[in-house]
Amino acid sequence: MKVIQLGIGGMGNTWLNAVQRSDEVAYAGFVEINADIAREQATAYNLDPATIYKTLPEALEKLNADAVIDVTPPQFHKENSTLALEAGLPVLSEKPLAGTLEDAQAIVDKARETGVIHMVAQNYRYRPLTQTVKSVLDSGELGAVGAVHAEFFNGPHFGGFREEMAHPLIIDMSIHHFDMMRLFLRSDASEISARSWNPPWSWFNGDASAAAHMRFENGVFTSYSASWCSQALPSSWNANWRFDCEKAVMLVQDDTVTVQDLLRVTDRRGALANVHGERRVVPLLEMEREGQDYLLHEFCEAVTKGKPVATPAQDNIRTVELVFAVVRACDSGETVKLS
Ligand SMILES: NC(=O)c1ccc[n+]([C@@H]2O[C@H](COP(=O)([O-])OP(=O)(O)OC[C@H]3O[C@@H](n4cnc5c(N)ncnc54)[C@H](O)[C@@H]3O)[C@@H](O)[C@H]2O)c1
Repeated sequence: MKVIQLGIGGMGNTWLNAVQRSDEVAYAGFVEINADIAREQATAYNLDPATIYKTLPEALEKLNADAVIDVTPPQFHKENSTLALEAGLPVLSEKPLAGTLEDAQAIVDKARETGVIHMVAQNYRYRPLTQTVKSVLDSGELGAVGAVHAEFFNGPHFGGFREEMAHPLIIDMSIHHFDMMRLFLRSDASEISARSWNPPWSWFNGDASAAAHMRFENGVFTSYSASWCSQALPSSWNANWRFDCEKAVMLVQDDTVTVQDLLRVTDRRGALANVHGERRVVPLLEMEREGQDYLLHEFCEAVTKGKPVATPAQDNIRTVELVFAVVRACDSGETVKLS
């Protein structure tokens, strides 16, 4: 399968490496608007400079491609996806699906109208840690899930578009954690209250800290607390999690999964008391492919063999709706309901 990659700086590096590692996918060419980045990356990755175009319409006209990988900033996703889908080319797009909910919905509508595949790169889903947590929850051994708590703290100095956004943390980072909640709970959020703020030392224009409470359609409550301008003691990018369940508690701390079971509810004298088992560490599942390698393989299988697509835009729109519902809850101070 031959692809055109849009955007070869920043996160484009991760995709350049994934495609160059792949024995299923090769490059037809690239689109990069920044001439310096185009030149540097052509040298660094041994790309043919003649295959790097300034615009997607030019690239679509000159190159013979089967699909597109979009690694540009979110505000360009709608235009890129629309052009590619109308040209009949399947799209693998970086998250967020688009920079606004309206643009994201327009992409989903275009994918439906054209019948062309559109897949979103929610790479955090396809990590051993995430798959391990999901498999423990799906096994039913913990009993019903009552509540989920997630915390994330980091302080990245990216520069660029994130430092100009109104809600950089929620739209660009928490989207991964909210998408993981949907995956873990196999449900969608129905009610959200949230607050966001910016500490005095923040280098982001928009709010880089937030806290949210959500109710999911299956009755599970989640609490989320996060910051992208935390000055020390960073947590894992996957966040720390606590799952309070009927028969056990599962902790995910610094990428280690630990379970403690409730053995019985009476002590030796027969009084009501919770008696626990030893804390046990759950070994992480092994995956043949992870992250971008997994997504690229799934995308290729969907495009070339018609297999069901991982994280299609038609499902991912629910993650985008959740993200923008949290933004609305922060901006209004009101509880937001999703139907
Ligand atoms: N899944 C993840 O873990 C992850 C991590 C980082 C970034 N991302 C996502 O990747 C996307 C890009 O983020 P980034 O950090 O690489 O941004 P960036 O600004 O660092 O890099 C974007 C690149 O695209 C180029 N570009 C910009 N507009 C373009 C256009 N219209 N056509 C072609 N090229 C264009 C820029 O010149 C630059 O080379 C965003 O949607 C971001 O959320 C995902």
